[in-house]
Amino acid sequence: MLRFLTAGESHGPSLTAILEGFPSGLKIDINKLNAELKARQSGYGRNSRQKIEDDKVTFSGGIRGGITTGGPICMHIENKDFENWREVMSLDGEINTPKEKIVDCFRPGHADLAGTIKYGHKDIREVIERASARETATRVAVGAICQQLLNHFDIKLACHVMQVGQVKAKSQAECEDLNMLMSNATKSEILCADKNQSEAMIEIIKKTWGEGDSLGGVVEILVDNLPVGLGSYVHWDRRLDGRLAQGLMSVHAIKAVEVGDGIEASSLTGSMVHDAIYPAQAGDKLSFARKTNKAGGIEGGMTNGSRLVIRAYMKPIPTLVKGLDSISFPDFKSKKARYERSDVCAISACAIVCKNMAAFVLAQALLEKFGGDSVDQINLSDA
Ligand SMILES: Cc1cc2nc3c(=O)[nH]c(=O)nc-3n(C[C@H](O)[C@H](O)[C@H](O)COP(=O)(O)O)c2cc1C
Repeated sequence: MLRFLTAGESHGPSLTAILEGFPSGLKIDINKLNAELKARQSGYGRNSRQKIEDDKVTFSGGIRGGITTGGPICMHIENKDFENWREVMSLDGEINTPKEKIVDCFRPGHADLAGTIKYGHKDIREVIERASARETATRVAVGAICQQLLNHFDIKLACHVMQVGQVKAKSQAECEDLNMLMSNATKSEILCADKNQSEAMIEIIKKTWGEGDSLGGVVEILVDNLPVGLGSYVHWDRRLDGRLAQGLMSVHAIKAVEVGDGIEASSLTGSMVHDAIYPAQAGDKLSFARKTNKAGGIEGGMTNGSRLVIRAYMKPIPTLVKGLDSISFPDFKSKKARYERSDVCAISACAIVCKNMAAFVLAQALLEKFGGDSVDQINLSDA
């Protein structure tokens, strides 16, 4: 089974990911992989850390001569900022935290409070460092490899930002071409394919920034050319919509996931929602035809041959310049939450992370259905 683990702290020396169960024989384009990492670092509203880091992957296993071997793929991403945190983040030496880096208060909306109590920590930083969304860099590295496997079988993924705060752009669920969508979105500093709304999104982030507040938003992920029947209806944990939702909900700050028109559909009647089925026309790739795709490409927990349409909803960034009410640690007395360098809005980065988490889940489901220890053994032609 395709699976991965990650390790590392936000200000530690590096982050590591191990991707296991990946087939042999795929040529990895390292430039494409690093471009995906760069995309995660970009976007209007991010903090100054992005200027320090220049995320790039180094491999230490599972790839030889640029081609996957079938062994566990081990990847590292250096934290350049570690230089500024050596004494605070020393792995085996004495910890020496200067006053300005001491964390003495829980930040509402973060893992700080529950994590400190759960693990019995004496220092909130133990939680902050591992719970940080810096970890998503490793997920993007994993997902970028999975995307290359999916691309090998002509499966294409795209993502874009659909909403920031109250500013909404149209869904691109019916757009002609995902490459074109991605190319339009990447022209925008906020990864929004609609030029006017992109400017409005940047304006609202600027305004919110000035007020010491933060924003979230909505991202849309679209996938074309998935074979029919990834996932299954036979067991709860094999349903692909559930697995995609888990993958996306595991991304920091994602609080809801929607498949197709899921949210709107809950207020409509059945005849308005379900996608009628028709005989195939000459030239159709599938043995049936659909005129609509309100289901978003999944029925009964399986891909149904239509475009996959999923949306992820991100809450506003919880670290605020104008600190919320909270309590101090270790004495649990009233105190304003402390501000530590933070994004104001990370929605475009989040879109990249969500696309890559979706790529992992889809690659896993693809390998389950079609098997294959090597890429050459995977045959989608009967799908
Ligand atoms: C790409 C990305 C970047 C993020 N950057 C920040 C940040 O700079 N500051 C912050 O407070 N939260 C940031 N978050 C959100 C927090 O990591 C997240 O809200 C927190 O870990 C609590 O987890 P939860 O919201 O899933 O409950 C970011 C999330 C993502 C996906």
